[in-house]
Amino acid sequence: MSNYHIKHLEEYYQVYRKSVREPENFWAEVAEEHFMWRKKWDKVLQWDFKKPEIKWFDGAQLNITENCIDRHLVTKGDKTAIIFEPNSPDEAARHITYSDLHERVCKMANVLKSKGIKKGDRVCIYLPMIPELAVSLLACARIGAIHSVVFAGFSSKALASRINDSECKMVITSDGSYRGAKTIDLKGIVDNGLESCATVESVLVVNRIDAEINMKTGRDEWLQPLLDEASVHCAPEIMEAEDPLFILYTSGSTGKPKGMVHTTGGYMVYSAYTFKNVFQYHDGDVYWCTADIGWITGHSYIVYGPLANGATTVMFEGVPHYPDFGRFWEIVEKHKVNQFYTAPTAIRALGKQNIEFVEKHDLSSLKVLGSVGEPINEEAWHWYNDNVGKHKSPIVDTWWQTETGGVMITPLPYVTPTKPTYATLPFPGIQPALLDESGEEIKGNQVDGRLCIKFPWPSIARTIWGDHQRYKDTYFSAFENMYFTGDGALRDEVGYYRITGRVDDVIIVSGHNLGTAPIEDAINEHPAVAESAIVGFPHDVKGNALYGYVTLKETGESRNQDNLRKEINQVITDRVGAIAKLDKIQFTNGLPKTRSGKIMRRILRKIASKDISNLGDTSTLLNPECVQEIMDGVL
Ligand code: PRX
Repeated sequence: MSNYHIKHLEEYYQVYRKSVREPENFWAEVAEEHFMWRKKWDKVLQWDFKKPEIKWFDGAQLNITENCIDRHLVTKGDKTAIIFEPNSPDEAARHITYSDLHERVCKMANVLKSKGIKKGDRVCIYLPMIPELAVSLLACARIGAIHSVVFAGFSSKALASRINDSECKMVITSDGSYRGAKTIDLKGIVDNGLESCATVESVLVVNRIDAEINMKTGRDEWLQPLLDEASVHCAPEIMEAEDPLFILYTSGSTGKPKGMVHTTGGYMVYSAYTFKNVFQYHDGDVYWCTADIGWITGHSYIVYGPLANGATTVMFEGVPHYPDFGRFWEIVEKHKVNQFYTAPTAIRALGKQNIEFVEKHDLSSLKVLGSVGEPINEEAWHWYNDNVGKHKSPIVDTWWQTETGGVMITPLPYVTPTKPTYATLPFPGIQPALLDESGEEIKGNQVDGRLCIKFPWPSIARTIWGDHQRYKDTYFSAFENMYFTGDGALRDEVGYYRITGRVDDVIIVSGHNLGTAPIEDAINEHPAVAESAIVGFPHDVKGNALYGYVTLKETGESRNQDNLRKEINQVITDRVGAIAKLDKIQFTNGLPKTRSGKIMRRILRKIASKDISNLGDTSTLLNPECVQEIMDGVL
């Protein structure tokens, strides 16, 4: 037996030990007993972290949508697969059953085919959180097209760079989106972006807000009339386990975003197995993850993981503060949500509001609370536990990454005793290691170091689209024979892990992974800017906020600094997206640099955080005099 569902701590340790001692047998059992394969694998695992090359279930054939939809039809056809909760509470929620979902996905898949999309083609999906988003992912998977979802808060330039990087043939979007009381002109953003995209042949447009939009003849079409004509039958494309399922872009510490490539078989097995255990999902439960499907959390834990388990998953279109700060709790009450999964930034924002927003709702359906995306601070953890979970719903602080495809370090609710701010224990199959700067593994407990993973797991990203060398350099070169996460962590006296944050130039703002380089590149495009450096500083809601140090081409007060700040944030909004705007911008005559010309961010980080008691050795700087000037001008 594979212990697909782990129910107590002893069982966890037993399963974990097996997953380390006999990883191939362990994963073969999980895969064999709980999924539908058209052909079994020849080899469970082949791997080499030096190349790096990782293959799981090689030779096996399957279609993930058969696992997420078709196989549930006989027993669960009338069960709700997706509950769609619209932006406005005045618009009725929609329940989409597994049978409905099957029909919708098949029709959509046929529309894609009619537009010439075939196995291996890339389709960019730029949609708000409406059912068509989930349906589009699954329709791509149905026919073997590779989806690349771009979060619909990214700017047209960010969208275009992602479309061009993976040479998408099609874009699926909508006329616009609702965001609280506002509407956003998504189609306009797509039109702007596509001016610089040569590979896109067709654009399918969902009518969400009844907006008057431009339709480019020969390229753009409304989706609904095509769906009306489409057949409800679409045989699934039979995929190899190692065929790509999707590309999802994530920020890096340098240059352009990295298109992480996830493949079919291993990703399915891992996202489904983790979903079942991390949320202790039981048939009949209603599960809600508040993330956007534009991020990995939505891919794995709104769409694929829940549906592979035949679960009911909520998709929420809106925002936590519309029409008021009670919206999340109203939805929990309305749909009797059992598992609720959100980000610390949302918890902190909601924790600042009048407690009545929480207390006026009946939250007694809740059994499990989840947290993801950034370290959860002690205060937020307790607020969540006291006021939402009422001390009866365990909090699972789940650590993982776009690159890992699924949750890696986490408590299992009702299984692992929790500890505030600790992600606790590795999931079965995950072998973490802490390394020191010289690359030595730090053994024992009560230690801290750089978090690495020693052994592959089924849903590790296999490459960066079009740039395998960068994949190797980023994840497998810092430490020999290890996957390097980019995070620091400590291990306590009982072996629990606490993630302490990024040790590279990625900053997590409101749970969003932002690389400093693309933001600095954007700022440097402003004609008045000579140079810039971005660092994070602590923020009580966002976790971290961005602090920019900017040197201007012409010194002196010739320009109004407030206007310049606005212009700089506008350039960032245009180039990257509003999520990357800076909270503080300090103009300075110089940036501290090493003799080799590298900006010393460590010093800038300390100054921005007002932690200037020990700046470390500044004598090796090329221009130590600028440090005092920066300290004097700190905002
Ligand atoms: O720094 C870690 C942080 O988010 C990073 C991954 O970001 P992304 O690829 O966008 O995926 C986010 C959702 C899976 C990690 O390297 N992070 C994520 N979860 C946690 C976390 N930091 C601390 N605790 C967590 N639970």
